[in-house]
Amino acid sequence: MTLRLDHFDADLEEMIRGSVKSILDNQNEAGAIIASPDFAEYGFCWLRDASFCAYALDLEGEHEASARYHNWVRRAVEGITPLLESVTRSQQGDELLDDELMPPARFSMDGTMVHDDWPNFQIDGYGTWLWSLEQHLRASNRRSLPVEFVPGVRTIATYIHEFALTSCYDVWEEHGSDRHTSTLACIFGGLSSARRLLEDDTLGDRANEVRSVLLSTAREHGHFTKSNVNDDVDASVLWLSTPFAVVDPHDELLSVTATLIQTRLEFNGGIRRYPTDVYFGSGAWPVLTATLGWHFVATGELAEAQRCLEWLVDHFDEQGCLGEQFDGELRDRTNHDFWVRKWGPPAKDLMWSHAMFVVLARELSRAHSGEASDEFRVEGGIDPGRRTT
Ligand code: BGC
Repeated sequence: MTLRLDHFDADLEEMIRGSVKSILDNQNEAGAIIASPDFAEYGFCWLRDASFCAYALDLEGEHEASARYHNWVRRAVEGITPLLESVTRSQQGDELLDDELMPPARFSMDGTMVHDDWPNFQIDGYGTWLWSLEQHLRASNRRSLPVEFVPGVRTIATYIHEFALTSCYDVWEEHGSDRHTSTLACIFGGLSSARRLLEDDTLGDRANEVRSVLLSTAREHGHFTKSNVNDDVDASVLWLSTPFAVVDPHDELLSVTATLIQTRLEFNGGIRRYPTDVYFGSGAWPVLTATLGWHFVATGELAEAQRCLEWLVDHFDEQGCLGEQFDGELRDRTNHDFWVRKWGPPAKDLMWSHAMFVVLARELSRAHSGEASDEFRVEGGIDPGRRTT
């Protein structure tokens, strides 16, 4: 699909509306948003993907749909509260925990836990949910945390407070024995939101501890690394600044990291996950190309951001679907074919890809028109109530 992007015209608005409609069409009555409707392995609701989707819905004024999602998470969390509390107690008592028995990264669409061999122990989604919930409350002009959310937010905040610095699977559901930079970014964002929502400074203290760990590792290497054991980059590390505000978008270490990400991960104009990735041959991901674009909006590099947006626009198909990744078969045919034999072709329509397209398009459009971003950003520590452009 081609589109003129030299100014923000009606076509772009129509594409944004199309992506919002895709997300809404893939949300059930109860509020869950399926990761992808056409890829069997993704027939679930991930906290990670769907919390970004809810953020995109709020940006576009779809507060009722976003509220339905957040209420769905609230009920899903209620369902696993005994598990969350028991693993939190075990962690406080220094007991050994089995990764497979940890709270899940994804739920069935009815909000129940899925029992299979997928790696459960991924704490990032819980942090991202808290961040997304705070964004939703602000976008819908709620001044405080609705009372029915208090127990769930408290349980999740305590859970991520306890496990913040524990190794777990990363945002790509891999490498369960490492501590991952982007996971810590999500945890920082979640703790910071919970600190404001619950007015609990101990959560802010923990967030600052997480930031210190991140900064000291980055200083050692001269850039933010993928994890505590892998000193290469990972594109999800960009979340450190946008949206989770661990560091400023202009932070020097982050700038070096962003340059490395472009040098090492750019493929056919889009951005891959990390250098040694093999999933479906490791093509370029709309989610990550949009993430880089969002970073460029934050640094004021609007021409670069626009290039990212144009790449996304070019990857919608004629039906308005936006897939998970592109051109893995051109980069690494062997691994691409391995995954196709295992699970079929990559997801053709991924809700998280739509969400990130909406976020980038809207943020860039606002930057062009000189409007302030809607995102609630915390700079230089825990600083409630501060807004920046
Ligand atoms: C990705 C996850 C994502 C999930 C559902 C996996 O392949 O690694 O980050 O949450 O798909 O989209």
